[in-house]
Amino acid sequence: MPSVPATPENIEKAGRLIRAGRLVAFPTETVYGLGADATRGRAVAAIFAAKGRPRFNPLIVHVPDRAAAEALARMGPEARRLAEAFWPGPLTLVLPARPGNGIADLATAGLTTIALRVPSHPVALALLEAAGRPVAAPSANRSGHVSPTRAEHVLADLGDRIALILDAGPTPLGVESSVLDLTGDAPALLRPGAVPRAEIEAVLDAPLPSPSGKAGKRPSSPGLLARHYAPRTPLRLDAHEVRPGEALLAFGPAPLPHEGPMINLSPAGDLTEAATRLFAALRSLDAEGARAIAVMPIPEAGLGEAINDRLRRAATPAGEGAPEPLGPSRGPC
Ligand code: TXA
Ligand code: MG
Repeated sequence: MPSVPATPENIEKAGRLIRAGRLVAFPTETVYGLGADATRGRAVAAIFAAKGRPRFNPLIVHVPDRAAAEALARMGPEARRLAEAFWPGPLTLVLPARPGNGIADLATAGLTTIALRVPSHPVALALLEAAGRPVAAPSANRSGHVSPTRAEHVLADLGDRIALILDAGPTPLGVESSVLDLTGDAPALLRPGAVPRAEIEAVLDAPLPSPSGKAGKRPSSPGLLARHYAPRTPLRLDAHEVRPGEALLAFGPAPLPHEGPMINLSPAGDLTEAATRLFAALRSLDAEGARAIAVMPIPEAGLGEAINDRLRRAATPAGEGAPEPLGPSRGPC
């Protein structure tokens, strides 16, 4: 049984497994990650194999603190300010990698940049200490599936492919980290996530250009590819009524009247609560075998941007809307 409670002994064991080049799934404050020693190419390759993920997607490298981040990447004044404000926490910074930093090429897809994050979940931090290595970790789901917010989701998707799952219950935030690229002329939000855009802008003291991009502009992060989070059941967004045979993903105090399968992301209309429930709700409605999932409108404020971003990707029919991948971008992850 690869899923075990995240006790100190099991965290130590997980650290040893990472050092031995094995895969360990672990909770972060956002979603469960599928971790491997970022300095070992074979271990990183095993992540791609387990996920069935296209090979050239760069991964987020997780480190226990800012000093460890500075050893791997060059951090300018902006990066330091952001790290000060948001680490440990759900902000990933894309930074210029230090040459010879020991990180496997496969983890950064051969780029000269590296995505770094210091997670705030105590189990994630304890694991990073126990492993004593930077840990590359995408979300612990099969490629194209929704991100796991519970150990059971990981077990269902990857249980037969990994050495150990550290179970610490549901993840507190439920939506992935915000990915901010600091390697261009100006900071760019590559993936809206658990740190709302406005909070990043407040620290930068400048507005961020829209992440959705102008028509014809290519994404510089695979996380921006249209088809990324994909339940099998079609999603119908911005629904103002529920049609026959549909399930309902509701939001707020006045859900649409409906007799069949229904989940309200937050009866109180709280976007943070909605974010924590989003992926589990998609999974469970997907299992209902409905004709479609009608999704009520969700405000674009705060975490609403990340929630709507996820929903739009999940709603894009396969083969449609996905821009041609370029550079490191190769399909959904
Ligand atoms: O919350 C999270 O970020 C979770 C937990 C496990 O930490 N991890 C996660 O990883 O969502 P993943 O691999 O599913 O998403 C990583 C994102 C992708 O959009 C990837 O393209 C982007 O980060 N990324 C990684 N390295 C990059 C780089 N050098 N340049 C641009 N984008 C990069
Ligand atoms: Mg993912």
